[in-house]
Formats: sequence, structure tokens, C-alpha cells
Amino acid sequence: MQLSDTTPSNVALVGVGTVGAGVARLLTEQADRLARHAGRPLRLTRAVVRDVARPREVKLADGVLTDDLASVTGDESIRTVVQLVGGLEPARSIMLELLEAGKDVVTANKALLAEHGPELFDRARELGRSIAFEASVAGGIPIITNIAQCLSANEIQSLHGILNGTCNFILTEMEEQETDYATAVAEAQRLGYAEADPTLDVDGSDAAQKLAILAHLAFGARVAWHEIPREGVERIEPLDIHFAAELGYRIKLLAVAELMSEGLELYVSPQLVRRDAPLAEVHGAYNAVRVVGDAVGRVWFHGLGAGQMPTASAVVADLIDTVVGRSAITFRTLELWSQRPPRVSPRDHQQVESRYYFRFSVKDDSGVLAEIASVLGRFDVSIASVIQHETGEEGSDSVPIVLMTHKTTEGAAQRATAAIDQLDAVRSTSVRMRVAD
Ligand code: HSE
Repeated sequence: MQLSDTTPSNVALVGVGTVGAGVARLLTEQADRLARHAGRPLRLTRAVVRDVARPREVKLADGVLTDDLASVTGDESIRTVVQLVGGLEPARSIMLELLEAGKDVVTANKALLAEHGPELFDRARELGRSIAFEASVAGGIPIITNIAQCLSANEIQSLHGILNGTCNFILTEMEEQETDYATAVAEAQRLGYAEADPTLDVDGSDAAQKLAILAHLAFGARVAWHEIPREGVERIEPLDIHFAAELGYRIKLLAVAELMSEGLELYVSPQLVRRDAPLAEVHGAYNAVRVVGDAVGRVWFHGLGAGQMPTASAVVADLIDTVVGRSAITFRTLELWSQRPPRVSPRDHQQVESRYYFRFSVKDDSGVLAEIASVLGRFDVSIASVIQHETGEEGSDSVPIVLMTHKTTEGAAQRATAAIDQLDAVRSTSVRMRVAD
């Protein structure tokens, strides 16, 4: 039996930014290794960019770099294209054009899939083409393949992820360097983790887009990413990091999907995670995902969720899968954005239960704690512990009070904190965070 073919497989790149340069580097510098895994050499035939004159960090063979997409779509010898154009447009149009031209596509563009996945997947299926997207969620961590293939004997029961490296870096920096939020964001930008406008990372949107993809794959839930309740890390203060530490926790931005008899609980929010729990040990720009399946039990994934070579690692693995024909097989049976009806619906977020951490900034006066306790009692929120230190902020008559609650619903926690914020003794909007158990 012949295991390898010396005829090269022609492939093309569209977009040669940071990740594209990493992919080109692997294709040129590790050609032998990739050929071994693909069973034949992979030849980078074209790399399409907007501006061919711009200096690139990777050296490509003469004639490869072009600004002409038609040199790819019109070349029948190119069957597989790595599409690494970011954003929604022209990324969507380019993807459709490639599919229409008969190409199988590999992408890392999670925002594009989260927004236009149904349209792109429908079209790919109609045309008998495949889209591979391992790099779109958690960068170098092979979470898509693991959920879609390796764990397919299981009913997935829950998925907890640190899916945004920028937020995890910011929270780690605030804790380890004892800085405030703005300083930590500036450091994330200086190191290239955060964009100049970091909004989509820090407000939880990026994690919600990734969660929407994972929840569909793992649970058969068809949810638009913007319908996932989400909170980001923008309101977290050094005070919360300190109180969390005092209580034995770290704050992490978690993306959660948990199957309950009432439906799928789905949200992105900062949470207090016990310091000895594995998710609390995920530092800096790392990502991690814990999946629980009914047959396999708990499975952990940990690694870099962004960056040039980790993302290129996932992209090139997809490229090899596509060239050898594995992608076409898995794509046909993939539940993601298929015509199959959803297997589960999201649970009403107001009914989701958890323990809570509350921080109130209050006037240090008699009866204030009793007033707060009374409001919580009215909403059936039971207090588990209280911290109030003797002195408040210097030169201020306000003092932080931190309460940990027993399990309550999101709805009750929201209504109780809204009512407490109306009390005369309360100085600023209260902070409310779930406690991950
Ligand atoms: N900006 C993302 C992060 C990586 O910080 O994790 C790309 O989704």
C-alpha cells in the first residue's frame, strides 16, 4: 500500500498578517515535517495580500505574493485555502468566493463564524466543500476537534472556559503586580495582547463568540453570541482582587455552559474561583477549558489561546486535515449550524443559581449592615459570611462591606443589589460576582 505521494498539494493563503506569517513560516521552514503528516508535500503557491509592497516578516518564494484573489479562485490546482482575513467584511465575501470557486477553506476568524456561520456553513454544505476552524476558539488548544470528534461518545454535561487571554492577563496582572485595571490594560496593550481598542475582549464579547461556537458543538444549542448574557472585567477593582484573595479565591472571566434539566445555562461573567481549583491556576494570557462528559468525566485543556505560532499550529493542523480529506468527512456530520433542530434551549438567565460575592461601599454608620441584611432577606438571599474591616479608605467616610451568599438566583441577586443601591447609606453602585463551585 502506498502511504505517501510525492505530488505536492498546492495551497494558498489569503491574508498574511501575524498568524498568516506564522503559517507561511511553518509551511516553508517545516516542509518535511508537514509532508510526513500530510502524506505529500504542501506547496504554498499563492499568498494574497492587499498591499504587496508592505514589508513582511516572512520570506516567500518569488511569485507567491500577490494582490489578486482571482489568481487563487481561478487556479484549479489549488484545492485548499487558508483564509486569515480578520473582521466581517470583506472576510465574509472572500470566504463565499473561495467556496463558490470550489476551495476547501481553513479559517481562524471566530467573529466571522459567530456572526455569519449559518450562511457560510450552509453554502459550504450545498457546494460539497468544507470549512475547518480549529484556530477560531482558544488558538493553539485543540478544543474544537476534541469536542466534535474525540468526545463524541459523550453527552457533554458542562464546559467552563477561560477563553479570553487578554482578560486573563489583565486579572493576573492586577493580582500579581497589584495594579489597577487601567494600568493592567495598558500593559496588555504594550505586550501586544490587547488591541488599541480592547472593548470586544474586556466586555466579554470575544468570549461569548467562542462560547456560542463551543455550545453549539458540545450541546447542539443554536444560540446567537449576542444573546448570551455577558459581563466583562471592566468594573473589577483592586479591592475586589484583595477581598477575593482574603476569602481564598481568584477572580477569573469564565465562559460557562452547563446542561440542567431546565435547559442550558449559558453566560460569560467574572467569577470567584477557589485558589486551589485548576482554573484559578491559569495565569497570564493562557486559556483553559474544563469539559465534563457523562462517559469520560472531567477533561482539561490548557494552553495559549492566541499569538502567532500557537494559532498557526491549529491552522496548519486544519490544513493537513483538509488536504488528507479528514475535514471533508467530519464537516459532513458536524452538528454546528446544520439543518438539525437544536437539541437544547438556553435556560432563562434570571433562574440560573449560584453563590454570590457582593461588595457595597457604604457610610460607616449604625444600622447600615442591618438595612442591607434586611433587603437581602426580603429577596430571599441568605448571607453566608461578612467582611468589614475597621478602617475605610483614608479621608473617606465610606467603608467596603463584602458579603458572600448562599445559593440564590441571578434574578434575586440582581433585584436585591438594585434595591440596596437605592439606600441612602450606599455610596456607589454595588459589585456583584458569581462564585464558581
Ligand atoms: N483577543 C483574544 C484573546 C484572542 O485575548 O484571547 C482572539 O480571540
